Order: sequence, then structure tokens, then C-alpha cells
Amino acid sequence: MLGEQDIVHRFLTTGRQVHPDVVSYLKDRNDSALIDQILTQLPNDALVVSSCHVPGMKGERDGTRFLPEPHLEILRGADGMSTPSGNFADFLHYFRDRFTRLGEMIRVRAPGIPIQALSRNTMYRQQQECTIIGMVSDIRTTTNGHRLAEVEDATGQIPVLFNKDRPAFTEAERIVPDEVIGVHGKLSNDGKLFFADSLIRPDIPITHAPFHSDHPGKAIFISDTHVGSNTFMNKEWNKFVSWVEGSDAQYLLIAGDLVDGIGVYPNQDSELVIRDIYEQYATLGEMLSTLPHHIIIVLSPGNHDIVRGVEPQPPIPENFRKGFPSNCVWVENPCLLSLQGVRVLMYHGRSIDDMIGLIPDASYAHPQQMMEEMLRRRHLALTYGKRVPLAAEKTDRLIIDPVPEILHTGHIHTSGITTYRGVLGINAGAWQSQTVFQKQMNINPTPGRAVVLDLQSLQPEVLDFTISP
Ligand SMILES: [Fe+2]
Ligand SMILES: [Fe+2]
Repeated sequence: MLGEQDIVHRFLTTGRQVHPDVVSYLKDRNDSALIDQILTQLPNDALVVSSCHVPGMKGERDGTRFLPEPHLEILRGADGMSTPSGNFADFLHYFRDRFTRLGEMIRVRAPGIPIQALSRNTMYRQQQECTIIGMVSDIRTTTNGHRLAEVEDATGQIPVLFNKDRPAFTEAERIVPDEVIGVHGKLSNDGKLFFADSLIRPDIPITHAPFHSDHPGKAIFISDTHVGSNTFMNKEWNKFVSWVEGSDAQYLLIAGDLVDGIGVYPNQDSELVIRDIYEQYATLGEMLSTLPHHIIIVLSPGNHDIVRGVEPQPPIPENFRKGFPSNCVWVENPCLLSLQGVRVLMYHGRSIDDMIGLIPDASYAHPQQMMEEMLRRRHLALTYGKRVPLAAEKTDRLIIDPVPEILHTGHIHTSGITTYRGVLGINAGAWQSQTVFQKQMNINPTPGRAVVLDLQSLQPEVLDFTISP
């Protein structure tokens, strides 16, 4: 007799998730050879085995409502992908990869010259305008109020001055360390300084046209459930669960801080109702088990979760997944998913803390703006050595490439939606009311909300579960 666990395990050993409808179908058929047949016929890119892969199985009916076939693929950030965080030498590879790839995005719009050419070629001392492309190794304000950036490419480096009376100054105020920029301008007569006229960022191409699903589908976006905290919003969560039960959504995405964790900040104990980390996850598992089993639930970690804080963060390890239903899919932070062809970049958003310290008008109240800053720079967490520890990997997996249809973030517990050059940014909020820390910091979260997205129209809708009844 084939048990559910056996079936799930058979697929897991080949690196595949399996849709719960397929599990119950196979359980009823009790035919082990059928599993072999499915596995041999499965396309290489199929990460979730659904009814379309099972000979003789039709799309399932749930009560009277016909559910369109969900189709989820993990394009990047699948379980087992993350590598050790690397050593110092690996950072050279990492930053070189960042410079090359982000530099290329600028170069297609504004061809640049190597920084070394500025000193080698005399025409640049004679006020010949040009563009240089480099990584910002330092940025500061001079005593006269101008902005001075140290810009570096593979051939050399040069200080770049953004005069406070020139138009590029406003953008220069928003430069963060380790971002890759293009600067158009000219060299000073003595060849020691580059005067900037304009600033060019990698950015989203203006021609970007988002993909729309060709068949019906709905996805729900949430984050920061913080299970275990004494400020977890039970009542609002239960209302959310009732709403999900009656909805026709096929996907639920949770962008990190799944649980509150243990020892994440000093004296956290006094704000926990569940003081055991296994129990925190087990409770979330129970909560998610009450949701309809046809919904694919995608879980990625955040800074409160059990995994390393270094980004990219690996998925929640298997020994914390006990009690979770089989319709859960575990991914890294960040990760890139395709929901019926609509690409979703999920990123918890810890870098927002850094941006708030570095960008003049940035605030916890405006996640929309923070997501736009990420998209303009085509990067999720640029600055090394602040709050976000970065892994020295061979490639920079925090680069935003390809351009997704959706950027889904969390972390700051404030809800906000924006559309920037065709990319929809969603920060749904949290399921934790204001904490002692947030009160001290004067942060006013907007929790108890979810965002539901129609994958055909790409129209989002914010649902507020704090409103009675
Ligand atoms: Fe959080
Ligand atoms: Fe967080």
C-alpha cells in the first residue's frame, strides 16, 4: 500500500515537489509503476509534478469550482542551491561579477571608456566629454556641500564630483556605497578629478513589457508572520484563513520572517509566547495545514528565521518542516519563481534598513520607494558591511536579472504597492502588531493585510483583515 509520505518522498529524491492532488490520486491508484512512468516522462524543467504530468489524470474539481491547473517553477533559489559564504578572495569574484553585469546594463545605453584611458589619452584633459562606468567604493559630502564619489572599474579609479548646483546632484545624494553607476562628464584640467554632468543607473528598460498569464490564476502575497511572538495577530490571521478558504487563489507566497525566532534581539524572550524554535515552526505548519490543500504555499526565510543571516539565505532546513502540509515549497531568500509564466522575485527586504540610513528621504513608511530604489539599481542589497551580510559567491545572485513582473518584499511591516516601469512592487505588511522596538523607533506598521493578484490582468488588490467584521 502506497502511503502519502512514500509518494512525496519518491518525487523528492529526484528533486521534485508534488502537487497534493497528484499525491491523493496516486495513493488511490496504489500503482508504484505509475510513479516510475511519470518520472521517466517528466520534462526536465518540471519542479512541481501536477496533474498534467500524470497519464489519465484530469484537472481536479474542488466542490463545484473548477480550478485551473497551477503551474509553479522555481527559476532560481530552489532547495539545495546555496553555497558556503566563501572567503575574502571570493569577494573579488563576487564584486567583479556585480561590476561586469550591472556595468553591461549601463553600457548598452551609454558606452563608457575605461577609467585608465582618462589619464592615457590627452584629449580628455582638453575637456572632451565622456562616460565612465564603475562601482562606488566611497561616497561623501565635501565641506562645500558637493557630493564626492570614488568610482572604480577594472582599470583604475577616480574621484567624481557632483556639484551641488548641477541637476545631477539630487540623484547623487542617493548614491549608496557599492552600487554600479555610469557618469557622464569631463575631466578636470589637472586630470585628478572628474566633473559629473549626469548619472546613469542600470535601471529597468523603458521598453519593459510585463508578461501576463494566458489562463486564469490568482496568487496571494504576504510576509512576516512572526509566529511565536506575543504580538502575532491571531484574530486577523483567522479571518484571513476564512477568506482564503473561500477564494479561488492557487498560490500563497510568504516572504520571510516566518517565525519570530529565538534570541534575534536582546530580551526577545519577554515578547515570545512560544519559546521553542521547533515549536514556532510546528505551529506555523499547523496553521498552514488548515488552508485548502490545492494551494501551493511558497516559503522563503527572513532575518528572524533559523537559517544563516548571510544573503542569499538557504531555505528552512528539513528538520524544521515537520507538521507542514505537502503543498509547501521551500525556497531561498531571494528566489525567482514563475507562476504560470509571471515571474516573481521574492526578497525579504533586510537591505531596506541600510537604504533608510543611506538615502536622504527614505523611510519605513514607504516600502514603495524602497522597491523602486532596488529596481533602478537592479540590485536587492548593494552595500557591503552594513546590516546585510553578503555571501562571497562566484556570481552575484542579488542582481535583479531578468526583470521580473513582480517584486515581492517584506521586513518593514508596512504595506505598499507600486508600479515602476511595468514592474509591480508588493510589500504586503505583516501579521504582527507594533512591537516594543518599533514603538521606540517610532515605526508604525500596517499589519493584517494580504495582497491578491490576478495573474492575467496583473491587477493587485489589498485586503485588510483588521477591519471588522
Ligand atoms: Fe519581520
Ligand atoms: Fe525581517
